[in-house]
Amino acid sequence: MTRYEQLLEELPASPKTWLVTGVAGFIGSNLLETLLKLDQHIIGLDNFVTGHQRNLDEVQSLVTADQWARFQFIEGDIRNLDDCNKACEGVDYVLHQAALGSVPRSINDPITTNATNIDGFLNMLVAARDAKVQSFTYAASSSTYGDHPGLPKVEDVIGRPLSPYAVTKYVNELYADVFAKTYGFQTIGLRYFNVFGRRQDPEGAYAAVIPKWTAAMIKGEDVFINGDGETSRDFCYIDNTVQMNLLAATAMSTDARNQVYNVALGDRTTLNQLFCAIQLALEMNGTKYRKAPNYSDFRAGDVRHSQADVSKAISLLGYKPKYIIEDGIAKAMPWYISFAKALGKV
Ligand SMILES: NC(=O)c1ccc[n+]([C@@H]2O[C@H](COP(=O)([O-])OP(=O)(O)OC[C@H]3O[C@@H](n4cnc5c(N)ncnc54)[C@H](O)[C@@H]3O)[C@@H](O)[C@H]2O)c1
Repeated sequence: MTRYEQLLEELPASPKTWLVTGVAGFIGSNLLETLLKLDQHIIGLDNFVTGHQRNLDEVQSLVTADQWARFQFIEGDIRNLDDCNKACEGVDYVLHQAALGSVPRSINDPITTNATNIDGFLNMLVAARDAKVQSFTYAASSSTYGDHPGLPKVEDVIGRPLSPYAVTKYVNELYADVFAKTYGFQTIGLRYFNVFGRRQDPEGAYAAVIPKWTAAMIKGEDVFINGDGETSRDFCYIDNTVQMNLLAATAMSTDARNQVYNVALGDRTTLNQLFCAIQLALEMNGTKYRKAPNYSDFRAGDVRHSQADVSKAISLLGYKPKYIIEDGIAKAMPWYISFAKALGKV
C-alpha cells in the first residue's frame, strides 16, 4: 500500500481542518473536492479574480450535503492581512494556492503579480505562523528553474528567472526558507510543472495550453503553437498534484519539512506531441479535428524544455504519480466537452 493510499484510508477517521487559498480556482477546487470526499473540514479563501463560483458549485454537486456543510467559504484577498488571519483561525493544514499565474500576465502587469504573489504570500506566511498551524504547503513553480539548461530539473540546481512571475515564485521559496531559519516555521513548497485537468479555465487571454487548445479544437477553430512545436513540458495531471499536496501537508518528519519538491511526472512531451494527443482524445470522444496547427513566434519568458526529476518527492514524501499524460488527457476530455456544451460553444 502506498503512503497516499494509507492516507486516503486514515483521513476520514480523523478529520482535520484545512485552509485552501485560491479555492475557487483550478487546483484549489480540485483540492476542495478531494478533501470534502474524505470528510475533512475546509476553509476556503478566494477573491474570484481568476477563480469562479461555478467551480465551487460543481464541487457541491459532486459531494454529499453533509460533506458540503463542512466547507466554509471566505470571500477575501490574500493582500489583506486581516483576511489571512481570519482564514487561518483554527486551521491544522494550510494549502496555499492563491496567486496570479501566467508568465505573459506577469510581463503585462508585473505590479499586480508582485502584490499578489509576494505581498499576499508573506501575509499568508505571517498569518499561518501566528495561528500555529501544523503545516504550510504552498504552490511554488517550475519557472524557478529559469534559464538553467540542465535536464531533468533537480530541486537544488536552478538558474536565473526569465519572467516577473518566476521572480515571485522564487521569492516565495526564499521567504519560506527565512521563516524556517528565523521563526522555526517550517513549510513545504511544491514546484508544480504544467498541471492540467478538469476545471482548468479554457477561457481568457492567459489560459493554459491544454484547455486553450482543447476548447479551440472543440469549436473547430485554429490552434496556434508558439515556436516550432519542439518546446517540451512535463505535463502533470491534477490528481497527481492533489496527491502531492496531501502527502506534503501530512509529512511530519523533519527530513521532509522545509523543502521544495518537483511535482510532475518525470516525463517530457513536445507541443507537437501534445497537439496530436489532444486531437486523438477528442476523436475518441466523437469530435474530429482535421486542421493542422499554425506556428507563430516563440513566447517571451518561456523556457525551452522542462522535465522534472521527481525522485526527491518519491523518497521523502512517498509520492507515486498515478496518471501519465495520455490517461490524464483522456480523463479530462469529457469535462472540456461538457463545459463547451454548457457555454453553447458546440
Ligand atoms: N496550473 C499550473 O500549471 C501551475 C503551475 C505552476 C504553479 N502554479 C501555481 O498553482 C497555484 C494555483 O494555480 P491554478 O492553476 O489553480 O490557477 P487559478 O487561477 O485557477 O487559481 C488561482 C486562484 O487564486 C485566486 N486568487 C488570486 N489572487 C488572489 C488574491 N489576491 N486573494 C485571494 N485569492 C486570489 C484566484 O481567484 C483563483 O481562484 C498558483 O499559485 C499558481 O501560481 C500553477
